[in-house]
Amino acid sequence: MGGLWLIFLCVFMGLSCFLVRFLRARISTRQVQASGIVERKAAESIFQNDKLLYYRLQNLEDHPGALAQAQGRLIQLLDITVDSALKSTTPNFLSVPEFCLQSLRAYLADVEAATADAWASYLKRRSSGGGRELFHTSESAKQWLRLSAPVRCVDGAWLSRIHHARTPERLRPSTRIAWQILSEELGDGILERNHVYIYSKLLQSVGLALGPGNSAQFIELASDPDRDERVWTAAVAQLALGFLTDNFLPEILGFNMAYEAATIETLICAYELKEIGMDPEYFNMHITIDNADSGHTAMAVQAVMSFISALKPSETIQSWKRIQAGYLLAKMLPVTPMPVSKHREEVLSIFSKKCDPAKELHRRCTARIGRSNGKKLGEWLDPVLWETQKDLFLSSLAQSKWIVPGNPRDSNLVRQMGWGGRMFGAFTLREKTKVEEWIRNMTSKHREVDGEAARGRYAEFTGYSPSSPEIIPAKLAIAFQKGDCSLGIAYNPVKPTCIPVQILPSLLIEAATPLQYCIDSPANCATEQGIVAVRIMRILNGLPHPEDAVLGMDEVTCPSEGVVEIAWRVDKTVKQQRRLETSEMNDSSDLLVALQPWLWLDNVARSPKQNYWFLIGAQEGFVAYVLANTAGLRKGGLPDETAFQLGAISEMMQREMSELTCPQPEQRQEGFWAVIRCLEETISRSV
Ligand SMILES: [Fe+2]
Ligand SMILES: [Fe+2]
Repeated sequence: MGGLWLIFLCVFMGLSCFLVRFLRARISTRQVQASGIVERKAAESIFQNDKLLYYRLQNLEDHPGALAQAQGRLIQLLDITVDSALKSTTPNFLSVPEFCLQSLRAYLADVEAATADAWASYLKRRSSGGGRELFHTSESAKQWLRLSAPVRCVDGAWLSRIHHARTPERLRPSTRIAWQILSEELGDGILERNHVYIYSKLLQSVGLALGPGNSAQFIELASDPDRDERVWTAAVAQLALGFLTDNFLPEILGFNMAYEAATIETLICAYELKEIGMDPEYFNMHITIDNADSGHTAMAVQAVMSFISALKPSETIQSWKRIQAGYLLAKMLPVTPMPVSKHREEVLSIFSKKCDPAKELHRRCTARIGRSNGKKLGEWLDPVLWETQKDLFLSSLAQSKWIVPGNPRDSNLVRQMGWGGRMFGAFTLREKTKVEEWIRNMTSKHREVDGEAARGRYAEFTGYSPSSPEIIPAKLAIAFQKGDCSLGIAYNPVKPTCIPVQILPSLLIEAATPLQYCIDSPANCATEQGIVAVRIMRILNGLPHPEDAVLGMDEVTCPSEGVVEIAWRVDKTVKQQRRLETSEMNDSSDLLVALQPWLWLDNVARSPKQNYWFLIGAQEGFVAYVLANTAGLRKGGLPDETAFQLGAISEMMQREMSELTCPQPEQRQEGFWAVIRCLEETISRSV
């Protein structure tokens, strides 16, 4: 009996141990799964927020409040990148601790040499029989191009407000160089050379019609079902920098210096796209135009040097740290998507095989997959359209309620493939496993360093905390009293016979204002209206008509004056003259104060989409009544040479604007009258 009890006790203890071990294993598996889900949800919400912010910044005039959100996100990204550079054991840009041209050039030469080495190794691997490394198939290349679109469609955005009518005089030599880079990104006023336009042509050539980069449709179609959406974050950083120039100028110049350097990804991409038979022009162009001798890289370095030389000695240390922060941001935020996963390619090929028989079976199925581009299953599986819509189908499916990303077991799609499911038997075990792997791998590839842990690192490193950005609800109706400019067709103002030279500087600065925000969005500049604005801004900024070649460093070493530069020169002469006449050492007249009556124009200009034709009219007002008014300018005391210089600028601008076909002549006329009215008041106040 005692023996029996002993056996029973042993069995009971053995079972208990097994049960405890089993339960422990279950609990820890659940914990791991739960933490994975929490992490994934956090990464997904980062992407969703970045996508939303991207859309709002691309349409800023409808969402002016997005500026504050953009500044918060930008600081968070600067915190993260500065923090990880400080902790990093590999050499980075912090190894140039203070501005020294020699050290800077040596560092950049090392970076360039590393890229050249990586390129040589790649070519060696390929020539000794190695396969393509970025694109395994043309399908994966196509997907990569689609997923890269968010960042390609903001090409140049980080420079969008770098060189404005009100940019302080001492900074203008530097910002002008950077603006020239922006102009080249925007195609120098020629649509076929515009980088966003060229990229959209490339997408179209491979059958991808994502729509303009600032549309809601684009946000959906450029999304990634595998949740590798890090490019949205990089694109948001670029847009934020562009809009926040007043608060982040040194960071932008540093960012520009890093971003304009050719990367190994660009070299490989151009090479492999050509092999696959796709047009590599967009990437080839970035290899040549960004060169370090006379191209964007050289110009970016020159812009930094010019900026530093404009600073007071006491400003240099902090400004250099801020340039470093911007440089690190560009280097550490990935701008290319992860290569398309093999799981996605496998699932696409499985669905492609099933497409024909499946279509009939799903003919009466009413469920829709996809949001704005949603279709019934039978429509998605149409064998005639399948090739052109299969990527979109997979993206839509991955984002639908049929799939729980990262969790095949809870995904309805997988359940329906199993016993008792409506698709049981339609997929082999191997195929079902491939679909499960695809879903399991939809976890985020984006591993953003904990923003909380890095909080405050950028401010700590640079000693700089920007103030809140100025948010102006820039609507014509709010900013401007419409009654003031509705003067009617009978109103026929007389061209001023005398424009006093002392008020001319403020008028010239205002003449550069109307269209300056039209080039805020690279997506808008890839349109007919946007490209005209680029051409006009080029003329106002003193850049000549683009010939067959880009200007590159030629224009940097020998710059021509823009109207704002002329304004500052005239202002100086007037003040010198007054000092001689009155022996006054203090100038009571401040150019920026003289701009106050024109603030309404700056506000109206901030809604370039809504007010485009009003602004064209305003620009015409300045051209006809100020720049081309050579007689009035000379009578007011402007030297002949400068009056003729302005005359030549006005002729070029008139040519550009005369070719525009205007669907809203009333708005155009209102803009014209509004400027004339304000001009008359300014002149009458001055005499
Ligand atoms: Fe570009
Ligand atoms: Fe560039």
